[in-house]
Amino acid sequence: MRWMIIAAIILWVFAITGCAFVTEDEPGESAADKADRETVKVFSEPDGEPSGEKFSEASPGKLKPLPEADKAAEAPSIQRPGIVNRDELKVIADGDYLLALVTKETTLRSDYQPDDLKAVPDYMYPSRDMKLRKEALDHLIKLWHAAKEDGVTPHILSAYRSYDYQAVLFQSYADTHGEEAANRFSARPGQSEHQLGTAVDFGGTPFDLTADFADTEQGHWLAENAHIFGFALSYPEGKEHITGYVFEPWHYRYIGVDAAVEWKESGKTLKEYLETKPQYFD
Ligand code: DAL
Ligand code: ZN
Repeated sequence: MRWMIIAAIILWVFAITGCAFVTEDEPGESAADKADRETVKVFSEPDGEPSGEKFSEASPGKLKPLPEADKAAEAPSIQRPGIVNRDELKVIADGDYLLALVTKETTLRSDYQPDDLKAVPDYMYPSRDMKLRKEALDHLIKLWHAAKEDGVTPHILSAYRSYDYQAVLFQSYADTHGEEAANRFSARPGQSEHQLGTAVDFGGTPFDLTADFADTEQGHWLAENAHIFGFALSYPEGKEHITGYVFEPWHYRYIGVDAAVEWKESGKTLKEYLETKPQYFD
């Protein structure tokens, strides 16, 4: 009898406190914040990098394994940890070139940094101090106001990232999930479009940084209109065998209005489209 009373008390305590192993919501916390809190380890950031960025990557817990068909068709270009020979990467001659091909076969120099970075205005809800190249920012501002007129309020979750910052970010994911899994949603340093200062991660919904962002009003609006302002979706759905990355409906790159319209009409992935343009390597 005494054991039954003790067991009843234990059950009652669990019932009123909730199970200690379930991650609880924090007041005012968005789903994206919670996902980040659960999936991103705290790590020290390189000197000079502002802290507090909402890491704009897919939640690895949501990664689906590559279907067998995709594995068979997987482009040889998709790097695998352990066989990455950085010496064989094509070195992008000029990161300022708006149509530069940034893929798993190419790399920006570690010291490449755009020299015309400007601050993303606070009214766009940047999740930290963020910068973009001037031309990209001018067009982002136009995009933002057009979206606002249509009742959509994009938040900016990520913009320019230095080589060093990307290195720390990638390593933190690799430490947690292994390099192979990490490289399906996070670029190695030198291979992130964010280093160009023209890539933007959008958010501001309960589905930030997940594939479900595509089905939000904001995701729809961007898919239909971003190219009018010069932005192209870099990592579309079902194209990991071409792009090397899982679907990122929030990640857009500014390539100029004429190019973005041409890209949209082509129906190609951004990678395939840029491969039709002149590319310059050292
Ligand atoms: N999430 C994209 C691939 C990046 O890290 O640049
Ligand atoms: Zn991104």
